[in-house]
Amino acid sequence: MKKLLNKTHFSYTHSLASIGEKMNNTTTKWNPKLYNDKHSFVYNYGEDLINLLDPKRDERILDLGCGSGQLTFKINELAKEVIGIDKSPEMIQDAKSKYKNIEFQVADASNFMFNEKFDVIFSNATLHWVTDYKGAIESMFNNLNPNGKIVLEFGGKGNVQTIVNQLRNSLAKREYLEQSELKLWYFPSIAEYSTELESKGFRVIMAQHFDRPTELADENSGIKDWISMFGNDFFKNVTTNHIEEIKSEVQEMVKSECLIDGKWFADYKRIRVIAIKKNKTLANNV
Ligand code: BEZ
Repeated sequence: MKKLLNKTHFSYTHSLASIGEKMNNTTTKWNPKLYNDKHSFVYNYGEDLINLLDPKRDERILDLGCGSGQLTFKINELAKEVIGIDKSPEMIQDAKSKYKNIEFQVADASNFMFNEKFDVIFSNATLHWVTDYKGAIESMFNNLNPNGKIVLEFGGKGNVQTIVNQLRNSLAKREYLEQSELKLWYFPSIAEYSTELESKGFRVIMAQHFDRPTELADENSGIKDWISMFGNDFFKNVTTNHIEEIKSEVQEMVKSECLIDGKWFADYKRIRVIAIKKNKTLANNV
């Protein structure tokens, strides 16, 4: 992933951590290698969303939350022009090194502005990281041409609930109470999200909410790797011993739901939305 992260940083220290015990207090950075080696499903699944996007030769497209740029590259082959943006400098650097003739920029999904507007904004597996979702909707609206389109997929209501509920329990059990209550993601229902889009002036023409159990790459450490890649912020000021213990405990405790025929699955639930920026004519305001 990717992602235009909207991260919360903690300023407290955990009361149980004794002096000299090592704690995790580094600022989270995206790790392009772990992402590409073990979590390539993020952009592999995204290829299906490109079919829905159906890029046209005369379209200027923004890939919002482009990560390492794999989908931006595919869109580039079909559209007139594509620009990829992501909040992570590490991911943008990785994208630039892979795809030298595509424009990539570090930018925040909740607050971005281009001089030239886009015909379409595409976003795969990003917007659940943007807790300022109103800012993201406003930025998308302001950067589209009249009748421009958004084609989005991200985590919907109930996404990764099995894993994250257990992670919260395992943290709370060790008295990491603030960490256990961290609100890291935005997983709306389609009713909530469509209402937000409509209130800003979009017309929602397609909305879906579906289960997509997602196979994780490593048969031994699938859930632990997923937490390392995406849930590291829960471990701010958690001792390194506890981090390993908690990851193992979560993996063990979710076995009955997430281990199927020897393979680990994350309980993903996606929403997909297509919406059009309404043209401000009298007819449309009726
Ligand atoms: C997702 O793609 O649904 C997702 C990825 C990382 C963290 C949370 C959700």
